[in-house]
Amino acid sequence: MSVPAFTGSNVMDVDAAKIRGAGSNVHFDKVSVAYGAHVVLHPLTLDIAPGEILAMIGPSGSGKTTALRAVAGFVRPASGRIRIGATDVTDLPPYERGLGMVVQNYALFPHMRVEDNVAFGLRAQGADKALIGERVKDSLATVGMLGFAKRYPRELSGGQQQRVAIARALAVRPRVLLLDEPLSALDAQIRRNMVEEIAKLHRDLPGLTILYVTHDQTEALTLADKIAIMRDGRVSSHGPTAELYRRPPNRFTAEFLGRANLLPVTVAEGAAGPKGLAKARLGNAVLAGAARGEKPGDKTLLCIRPQHLSLTGDEEHTNRIVGTLKEVHWQGELTHLVLDVDGTPVRVSATRLPVSLPEPGSAMPLFFAPGDTSLVPEDVRG
Ligand SMILES: Nc1ncnc2c1ncn2[C@@H]1O[C@H](COP(=O)(O)OP(=O)(O)OP(=O)(O)O)[C@@H](O)[C@H]1O
Ligand SMILES: [Mg+2]
Repeated sequence: MSVPAFTGSNVMDVDAAKIRGAGSNVHFDKVSVAYGAHVVLHPLTLDIAPGEILAMIGPSGSGKTTALRAVAGFVRPASGRIRIGATDVTDLPPYERGLGMVVQNYALFPHMRVEDNVAFGLRAQGADKALIGERVKDSLATVGMLGFAKRYPRELSGGQQQRVAIARALAVRPRVLLLDEPLSALDAQIRRNMVEEIAKLHRDLPGLTILYVTHDQTEALTLADKIAIMRDGRVSSHGPTAELYRRPPNRFTAEFLGRANLLPVTVAEGAAGPKGLAKARLGNAVLAGAARGEKPGDKTLLCIRPQHLSLTGDEEHTNRIVGTLKEVHWQGELTHLVLDVDGTPVRVSATRLPVSLPEPGSAMPLFFAPGDTSLVPEDVRG
């Protein structure tokens, strides 16, 4: 017996039992990665709960793939430990980690039919024929590709190939699914459909933990329970998706996750009242927004999303600023306006316009609700 772990179908069952009992949370414990003297991942501590979808997003080169490859076992951390469930996997080879992985360019074997591609991992593990047949069927059914088992990859569209790649990753019944930009090679329409399909897949397999690496913030906002935003090999922020969007903890997060207007303000009054609103001064205007422990006199940023700015005031939209209208871009469903507010460009996405819009160059008031805005500290770069 040359490679004991890969022989005999009983080994599969033992492993599967061991893996099921071990849980599916992923824990990075001060994991750092360096290529030569170049540190590309600074000590990273991060937890992904069992059954959670964590989207890791960030600019090119920020260390997303490196973090994912460390979990997969394709790069060795310079320091720190990685645990999956109760198992410390840092020293285990990739195939013993109980993972499925899908990367950008699908990497299906071109000379193998769909069913053989999906069976590949199980055959490598020495699973018996009946089990392989059953798993191939199940996995293809999960991604809606059962009717394509006899085709070759070249006979499939890009989206179909990516579904097969996901089926192949699922066939070994992984406890964690690693997805690295799985949709970036697909065009926009197919990508949207696939995002919905991955969401459905996760509803069907709620125990499966997913680490989803992307630089597409829409994919992250749509799919993820939590988001980690990477910057220069460090986690810049990490938290529940809606919270990170609504109350970004720093400028980088505010600007990376969706579009944000960030107005430089001076805090006039710290948080007060049940909603924790602070008051901040912008020129002559006093504006209320969700606080983060600021003190009077602090210089900070007021974050307001373009869709939360209204052209008309009411009892809810009590914050008022005035800008000079610079540009109007009509896009059918939305009209984008750009105003200058005390030297800061402010973007507005409006679904409804007044009957007559002022001429560019005219002064125009904008209104927004205190609950839709938050104070965001300027980034301190280490
Ligand atoms: N094998 C390698 N040898 C040397 N440097 C590497 C290697 N792989 C990655 N790097 C460097 O590590 C840094 C992080 O790369 P990584 O692939 O993790 O980025 P990423 O966030 O996934 O970027 P992208 O969004 O472009 O995929 C980059 O500066 C990259 O050049
Ligand atoms: Mg990458």
